[in-house]
Amino acid sequence: MKKKFSKIQIAGFVLLAGGLSVSVAQAEGVNLLGTKEIVVKRAITEDASKCIECHAKKTPGIVEGWKEGKMAHAAVTCYDCHVVDKSSPMASQCEGIRGSKTFISPMVSSKTCSRCHPEEVEQFLKSGHADLSRAAIYDKNKAGGKLVALQIEHEGGAFMGVKEGSATNLASRRSGCQMCHGSEVEVGPDNKPINSSWPAGVGTLYPDGSVGTCTVCHTRHGFHVAEARKPEACASCHLGPDHPDIEIYIESKHGQIFLTQGEEWKWDSAPDTWEPGDYTAPTCAVCHMSGIGELTTTHNINERLKWDLVHKRSELRSGVRGDGEKGDALMRKVCINCHGKTHTEMTMKTLDDAVALYNEYWDRAVIMKKELAEKGLLKQDAWRDGFQELMYFLWHHTGRRARQGAAMNGPDYAHWHGFFQVFQVFKDMQDIHEWRTKNNKIEELSTVMSTGPV
Ligand code: HEC
Ligand code: HEC
Ligand code: HEC
Ligand code: HEC
Ligand code: HEC
Ligand code: HEC
Ligand code: HEC
Ligand code: HEC
Repeated sequence: MKKKFSKIQIAGFVLLAGGLSVSVAQAEGVNLLGTKEIVVKRAITEDASKCIECHAKKTPGIVEGWKEGKMAHAAVTCYDCHVVDKSSPMASQCEGIRGSKTFISPMVSSKTCSRCHPEEVEQFLKSGHADLSRAAIYDKNKAGGKLVALQIEHEGGAFMGVKEGSATNLASRRSGCQMCHGSEVEVGPDNKPINSSWPAGVGTLYPDGSVGTCTVCHTRHGFHVAEARKPEACASCHLGPDHPDIEIYIESKHGQIFLTQGEEWKWDSAPDTWEPGDYTAPTCAVCHMSGIGELTTTHNINERLKWDLVHKRSELRSGVRGDGEKGDALMRKVCINCHGKTHTEMTMKTLDDAVALYNEYWDRAVIMKKELAEKGLLKQDAWRDGFQELMYFLWHHTGRRARQGAAMNGPDYAHWHGFFQVFQVFKDMQDIHEWRTKNNKIEELSTVMSTGPV
């Protein structure tokens, strides 16, 4: 059975009676085709027009972008997303409305969107893109404080005397980690963001306690669904030596088809009606998010995952990370729209085997580390200790490339950037382990290049 269709449709424009009220008259119903609709009856109010008219002159780039999007055509305006209650911890006034009763905020979190898109936001908030993403760089307890130490003590130069917590010290977090993972937004006395804590990445925590920046995939102010369906929407974060997902995709057969045929694909079909035929190979969204065949669209990117291919040892997903068994079943339901059962079983088995091989390396590395620790043959500072540096590269760079390359059909990443380097790194670790054990001391200089295996 085909799933529900959720089609948002504007059923007509009814002028809302004056006043400041721009609340949306909204109803959910099922039409004769059995498709789900959100019916929005409204027009642009006088107050909302003022924002647009003035901003068309003052910030034309924003208004032009907005005009092109579907929401503008549905009369969703600046007012709907930026006007906040006076009591909001984010409430301020722009030049154009200073002294009036209207308050706005340049910050717009998923909470604003949830007024009209509750399902998408609920799914998003359960995913790794929300709290987990931000916690990865802010939680002082995570990984024994090592992740926060990486940004402040090491990268931020506190170890060589840069003042902890100073803007200089935090520059690495703010220009890097936070732009992908999200920040904890701080505001000043005028309720405007301070300390370079905004704008930021996907899991951002806003001053009113709400979480999530939807624009990372749906660029403001067009908010095009077509954009989010393209692999480029994920590429700004999912790239580089430690999670080269876009690189893997581009070298996969699917990426080859996207690059050669993608321009002819139909990108803007209604949600849950975007199906093979509109496209001939999957993009990131097709496998991880979009409705296809039996499956409906999800904003929870953990839903279709079996393994944890990001941490030190790959385990079946459970708890906040998802449900591995279920995830496996759902992902297979993606493939069978275009592949036979044999093909899907074969490729999924290849992933399981790659995970098992990687785990073999990791488990042996853990034993070596334990032996060195027991003999006092590890340096306190892991970043000055060749063995520990290599162990980091083993899982964080080479090991992830091998696992994610195997998962998404990127043989060059699975092999040359992956398992080939995994065994090299591992053998170097074995040599250091042996040397330290034989000489009962730690070599003075780290033998590892600071950039690691590229
Ligand atoms: C559908 C909701 C929505 C609508 C409609 C909307 N915005 Fe935004 N706007 C956002 C979001 C989301 C952000 C990003 C906020 C964040 O990262 O916290 C944003 C950011 C901004 C910013 C700050 C970023 C910057 O580049 O300076 C300004 C200014 C802005 N919008 C103005 C406008 C104006 C003017 C309009 C009307 C033409 C408008 N917006 C319509 C959602 C909306
Ligand atoms: C008469 C012109 C005018 C009107 C009307 C106006 N604005 Fe503005 N707005 C500006 C100007 C100029 C700026 C940039 C300077 C500033 O931030 O005060 C601005 C800035 C903003 C910002 C960014 C604020 C920041 O801190 O970066 C947002 C968001 C915004 N306006 C939304 C709105 C909304 C929503 C309305 C309608 C309720 C509105 N504006 C009405 C002129 C106007
Ligand atoms: C006042 C209600 C309202 C708010 C608030 C709102 N939306 Fe929408 N949104 C709509 C409506 C209505 C449509 C359908 C437009 C159509 O299909 O013609 C829509 C469509 C969309 C689409 C699909 C666009 C496309 O190209 O098909 C995206 C993506 C989207 N909204 C994202 C957001 C995000 C992100 C926010 C918060 C920053 C947000 N919306 C806030 C009402 C709203
Ligand atoms: C270019 C964007 C980007 C930057 C910059 C970045 N990350 Fe990430 N990070 C990601 C992505 C994408 C993932 C998910 C990879 C995956 O699932 O394979 C991730 C995963 C992680 C994880 C594992 C997930 C978890 O919740 O345990 C941690 C921890 C992490 N990053 C910490 C950091 C820290 C600390 C910094 C800065 C020193 C940083 N990241 C910089 C994009 C980035
Ligand atoms: C990781 C990227 C990503 C993020 C983050 C994201 N979206 Fe989407 N969104 C997509 C993709 C991909 C689609 C298209 C799914 C499909 O093919 O139908 C989509 C579709 C939509 C649609 C159209 C209806 C639907 O469900 O398909 C709405 C509305 C929407 N998103 C709202 C949001 C809101 C609100 C947020 C913030 C909570 C958000 N999105 C964050 C990728 C994203
Ligand atoms: C603004 C940066 C950003 C963008 C854009 C982005 N992601 Fe992510 N993604 C992250 C971060 C950060 C993480 C790590 C989350 C964590 O800490 O668990 C992540 C994790 C993931 C995960 C693994 C979740 C987990 O629990 O391990 C998947 C799958 C994923 N993203 C898919 C996508 C897809 C598909 C797109 C595009 C449609 C996308 N992402 C766009 C930043 C981003
Ligand atoms: C053909 C389907 C397909 C395509 C296309 C695809 N992926 Fe994946 N992806 C998978 C599968 C399968 C896995 C492994 C799932 C598992 O854990 O069993 C995976 C794993 C991941 C992970 C690792 C999650 C973890 O455990 O940390 C991330 C991140 C990710 N994909 C992001 C992306 C991005 C970004 C793109 C596009 C550039 C993309 N994927 C394209 C199928 C796909
Ligand atoms: C929208 C259709 C579509 C979906 C969905 C899809 N694929 Fe593919 N896939 C293709 C096409 C087309 C090819 C190229 C076949 C050829 O070589 O002629 C391909 C090729 C491949 C290849 C390269 C080996 C080969 O057959 O040539 C692998 C591996 C693969 N897909 C795995 C998967 C997996 C695993 C999934 C699900 C997670 C999946 N695909 C989902 C269309 C799809």
